[in-house]
Amino acid sequence: MTGELSPIDKAKFAAAKRSVDFVEDGMRVGLGTGSTAAWMVRCLGERVREEGLKIKGVPTSVRTAELARHVGIEVISLDEAKWLDLTIDGADEFDSDLNLIKGGGGALLQEKIVATASDMMIVITDTAKEVAHLGAFPLPVEVSPFGWQTSRALIEEALTNLDVMGREVTLRMNGDAAFVTDEGNHILDLHLNRIGNPRQLALVVNQIPGVVENGLFIDICDIVVIGHGDGRVELRDINAGTVEEDRIDFLESDNLFSDI
Ligand code: A5P
Repeated sequence: MTGELSPIDKAKFAAAKRSVDFVEDGMRVGLGTGSTAAWMVRCLGERVREEGLKIKGVPTSVRTAELARHVGIEVISLDEAKWLDLTIDGADEFDSDLNLIKGGGGALLQEKIVATASDMMIVITDTAKEVAHLGAFPLPVEVSPFGWQTSRALIEEALTNLDVMGREVTLRMNGDAAFVTDEGNHILDLHLNRIGNPRQLALVVNQIPGVVENGLFIDICDIVVIGHGDGRVELRDINAGTVEEDRIDFLESDNLFSDI
């Protein structure tokens, strides 16, 4: 069955499958958004159904909530959970300090709140997302629809004083209309090419009126699980300073691919 998946999808699956080993009975788990996180939700659902794993999931988007319920995971809100043991999510880029760019799927606001309200954040990814410097992937910034053009102008002005290599700011579209997030906001994508000081950029952008949140996740991720197309996975723990290698057997997971 996995022969029908691309090497990138196999890599995403391998990372997702390994990451759910961190989930234990009784945990409250933040469920990320995106194609890699969707594999993780499926793998977690399989453990719930087959092992009777008892967990509560806090999704980071409407689509993740729907998938989690579909695969048998009990879904609660963050306010019900209050605090989480673990969040597992994808990312668009990560660097050697495990700082991230997220929000390519438009769910950065819920993702950041949920990850920050967790004892631990695990990022699941394929090798293509590792970078020496963040910024090749456009940085998503969620803004209020009211006055978004003013917010954009203020961001452009702020960028002239920041250590970045590009300064174009575009409104994310969904066909002919502006993209709308689950919270009813818009997304501005900042084409920066290279971010010299992500921490400073995150602080400055979040001071601008109309900016709800930015997609830089600084000092939030604890472990990155990097999947390869052949089933190898690498686990880097930034706090322990360790690197482990493991392997996922795709054949054991054939039932998860049955609806592809
Ligand atoms: C969603 O808003 C994003 O933060 C995703 O986590 C990120 O875009 C990774 O998505 P994929 O797993 O689909 O690459």
